[in-house]
Formats: sequence, C-alpha cells, structure tokens
Amino acid sequence: MTRLGIFGGTFAPFHKGHRKALEAFFEHACLHRCLVIPAGIPPHKKKSADFTDAQRLEMTRLACEDLPWAEVSDWEIRQDGASYTCKTLQYLSERFPDTRLVLYVGSDMFLTLQNWYRPEEIFRLAEIAAFSRTGEDFDQLTAHGKELKKAFPHLDYTLYPVPPFPVSSTEIREKSVNGEDISHLVPPKVAALMREIQTARFTALLTERLSEHRLKHSLGVAKEAEALAKIHGAPVEKARIAGLLHDMTKEVPREEHFRLFEKYNLPLDENLRNNKNLWHAVSASADVTETFGITDPEIISAIRYHTTGKADMTLPEAILYMADLTDETRDYDDVDFYRMLARDHLEKAALVAMRWCRDDVARRGFAVHEDMLKGIAWLEEKYPDVTEETEKTRLNYPMKGR
Ligand SMILES: [Fe+2]
Ligand SMILES: [Fe+2]
Repeated sequence: MTRLGIFGGTFAPFHKGHRKALEAFFEHACLHRCLVIPAGIPPHKKKSADFTDAQRLEMTRLACEDLPWAEVSDWEIRQDGASYTCKTLQYLSERFPDTRLVLYVGSDMFLTLQNWYRPEEIFRLAEIAAFSRTGEDFDQLTAHGKELKKAFPHLDYTLYPVPPFPVSSTEIREKSVNGEDISHLVPPKVAALMREIQTARFTALLTERLSEHRLKHSLGVAKEAEALAKIHGAPVEKARIAGLLHDMTKEVPREEHFRLFEKYNLPLDENLRNNKNLWHAVSASADVTETFGITDPEIISAIRYHTTGKADMTLPEAILYMADLTDETRDYDDVDFYRMLARDHLEKAALVAMRWCRDDVARRGFAVHEDMLKGIAWLEEKYPDVTEETEKTRLNYPMKGR
C-alpha cells in the first residue's frame, strides 16, 4: 500500500531544520510521497510582523521545489480559521483511498496528542511517526507512547530520532529584520523572498508616512548606503535597512516624536530640544524597534547619528551619514565631489562634509550640535591636513575635460 506522509507546520518561514526533519521523515517512515501542509492561522492570532498565508505557502514551495517526492498543499490555508488535523486527515483519506496516511509529529506535539481534537479519529485515520528533536527526551516519549497505547489501543506509532537544528522560525525572522545573514538557516530562494517581503513592508510604511520626494530620497539613500557598504567592507544589508528607514519619522507630528522619546527614555539635551530638524534621528532610532522589531545596535546608532555625526564614528554610522548627503536625489553643486570622496575615503569625506554642514547650520542661525563639533574634532585629529581643496586636488575634481 502507498505510504503518504503528512508534514504540517506554520512554516513562517520554512527553514533548514524543517527540511532536515522532512527528509528524515521520508527516509525513516519509508514513505512513497509526502504532503507538506502549511497550517491555517486564525485571523485573531496573526501579528503585523507575520507573513501572509500566500507568503508562507510560497516560501514552503520554494524550500521544497527540488524534492521530487514532496508536494506542498494549500488545503489547510484554504480552510478558514484554525486547522484541525482530524479534518485534514478525513479529507486526505477520501482523496487518497487505499493509501496509508503517516502523520509527522514532533516531541511537543506527541506529548499532547491525547488533547488534540478527536484523537481517536486521528489514530483511526493515520499512523503516527513521532520524532524526538533533542534526543534527550527519547525516554520520556517512549513512556508517553506506552500510556497513549493503553488509552487508545488502535494507535499505531513509531518513535524516531531527528537531526537537531537549534534555530526557530522566530529567531530567523528576528535575524532577517536586523539585516543578519540567514543563508545558513533557510534555502537561498527563501532568504531572497524574505528580504523582498521585508523591504515591501518597510516601503509600505514609508509610502504611508512620507511625501513622494522623501520616499524617493529614502530609497536613494538605501541604494547608496548599500554601495558604500560593499566598497568599504561593511555589513551590506544592515546599511541598506538603515538607509531605507533613517527618515521614517521625519514627517510625523511633534507629539509622535515626544511620545517615542518618553517611551524609550531618550534624553534630549537643550540643543536637540531647540532644533526640530534633529528630532527625527532620535525618534526614528526608537521607532525602528517599536514598529519593526529592529534591535541591531549598528542600525540603530547609524540612524541616531545621521543628522549630526559624532566622535568615534563607526563604519555603518559614517556610511549612512554620507549616503544621506549623496543619494541620487541630491543635486547641489558639489554632490559629485562628495560622491567620489565617500567612495574613495569615507572618513575624509565625513570630515569635509561635516565641516560644510556645520557652516551651513550656523549660516541658517541654528546652534551647531556638540555631537557634530566633537565628530569634526575627532576627524581633524586623525586627518590634520585634509581640507576640501586637498581632496579636490587629490581626486582631480572637477575631472579634466568635463
Ligand atoms: Fe534625516
Ligand atoms: Fe535623509
């Protein structure tokens, strides 16, 4: 008789641990084929950072597309609300008569099987393949299996070990939103799709909040920050995310800035309080955490100091500072010089640019923030001879023959 495996889960996203478990299931339970079934999630359980049903389905398809014996089914997703294994098994036993259904269950699920909706019906319709994820719980599972068998004599089950994979979907989502490498945790196509979905989520919020011009600027800064990170050997995805989100609170009302300052206990010195042009850097550095769950210190500090710079600037801070001034929407006189200089030498570029910003701020009648003054002093000590003129000469700017 054909043995058809059933491998269900939330799969948000389907990761390499799921893949290992699925392959172990196919091999150990001697299956002919296997259905991989993303579970339906009731609307009240969905969180804003979750993937849509269609996205979970697509990620699962991509993760399994090279397994000829696996087929991804949208059946549970098409049912409204919560999934009941019993109903899925009833449907499958009608659709695939003369087939032995074999249900994959992990350790936690096996230990609570007796509490599932209509367990006796589940055991009538399917054989249970229970997989121990840690290996350490094998004795506990064995004992539980004996108890279950007493309560449900027609239960047919086998216990197997599964190679452990110590990362959860939640951790992978957290890593992804913080721009960390997840290529060892999910198949490459899933990683690419997750990044696409995430960028769309960021962009949707920016589109809602920002004017068209500032949205274009944000996309431009993301692109320029990505290029500078590649050139200078910084984490590229973190630079891109910081670039995209750096102005996310620039156009929100005054009260919203202050709500975030208070909620995240962000101290405002007198200069900051008096200069509303600087508020958005402080509030956005907290809003990325509140809105998207971003906690990466490099992304947060790059956003926090993108308006003033600071002493001891890190590579990601300097990248965002320069990308903000040189993205493709900027068209002031010397923008090409700053673009060239940022690509050639980031800190020299930051020094020349910060001096220029300092003078501009002063010209417009604002007090220059001390973070900027300290940043300039720190860079002047490192590069005592650098001026705009030395750098223009060094880079042969403007290019001869232009
Ligand atoms: Fe800004
Ligand atoms: Fe900006």
